Amino acid sequence: MAHWMDRLASGEQFDTRQWVEILSQYQNETVREALFARARQTAQRYYGNAIYVRGLIEFTNYCKNDCFYCGIRRSNACAQRYRLTKEDILSCCEEGYALGFRTFVLQGGEDGRFTDDAICDIVSAMREGWPDCAITLSIGERSEESYRRLFAAGANRYLLRHETADPEHYARLHPQGLTLEHRKACLYALKRIGYQVGSGFMVGSPYQTLEHLAQDLQFLSQLRPHMVGIGPFIPHRDTPFKDFKAGSLEMTVYLLGILRLMLPGALLPATTALGTISPKGREMGILAGANVVMPNLSPLSVRKKYLLYDNKIATGEEAAEHLAALQRRMQAIGYTIVTDRGDCKPAAKGT
Ligand code: 5AD
Repeated sequence: MAHWMDRLASGEQFDTRQWVEILSQYQNETVREALFARARQTAQRYYGNAIYVRGLIEFTNYCKNDCFYCGIRRSNACAQRYRLTKEDILSCCEEGYALGFRTFVLQGGEDGRFTDDAICDIVSAMREGWPDCAITLSIGERSEESYRRLFAAGANRYLLRHETADPEHYARLHPQGLTLEHRKACLYALKRIGYQVGSGFMVGSPYQTLEHLAQDLQFLSQLRPHMVGIGPFIPHRDTPFKDFKAGSLEMTVYLLGILRLMLPGALLPATTALGTISPKGREMGILAGANVVMPNLSPLSVRKKYLLYDNKIATGEEAAEHLAALQRRMQAIGYTIVTDRGDCKPAAKGT
């Protein structure tokens, strides 16, 4: 029988038991090396040695939700709340464009102050100011009508992690009122509308089992998103999950390798959380098949306030203004940062 990596690469679906077997080998060096070599080859075939960068603008840390893991949850009275103005956001874009960014990601908590009109106004101004750039939104669950309006205003991409594809596990991570069903409905609506869609999950979140991870992979193979963001769970001191341990670096990069084989043309970021749990985390992610890095373009004055988890890195090479340093790190491992929108390659498009 063919090796699971060949079968995965040829599009075969695995059941939960098969996935658990594959996932349980994550510490086996021989398996890891074979997986990563193959994942790198696949990324190379689709994207060469290009690493795409996205300028991340964290424009509000107000949030109406109370997710148990998240540092900007509503109940966290210690969070210093802020909102950027439209002018602040446009100056981030201006600075980012000059640095070579051609994708801007507007990320924020679910902040009622940012109505459809407000976001559309910002997106239209960005579209007009930087017509050659991609605009990505990461602003949570909204109505299909709202997603349509934002798309019409010029947004192209949307990031919304599913967090966990198991409904019961979902309920242990989120307070009542938030459901996996609704999260999934949002993701399918976004796809229908024509966004390039990113989903993803935390690795090692409290109560997560290998069966849950199996379900995450099964869900992603069904959804076929254009992007998948995964990062280790990292506890935040002012949340109910403060005493849980962080997710594993090894499991996160192993999953990146698997995702590269499963969704060969996908955009896979080596996330900030991965860079936070280990100084070499981002490089390890790229060497396991990731091809995107999302440096922080938020104004320095607010960067430390967008704290989803403890010790989140923000001012080193993950900072947009240190792109040259990031470029050197990428070149040291055989990759190069490109000035490009970095759209998803056809194989994963329209899937
Ligand atoms: N650790 C790691 N990732 C987190 N996120 C939120 N809180 C944490 C945490 N404590 C992730 C979620 C969310 C994304 C923006 O950040 O997956 O979708």
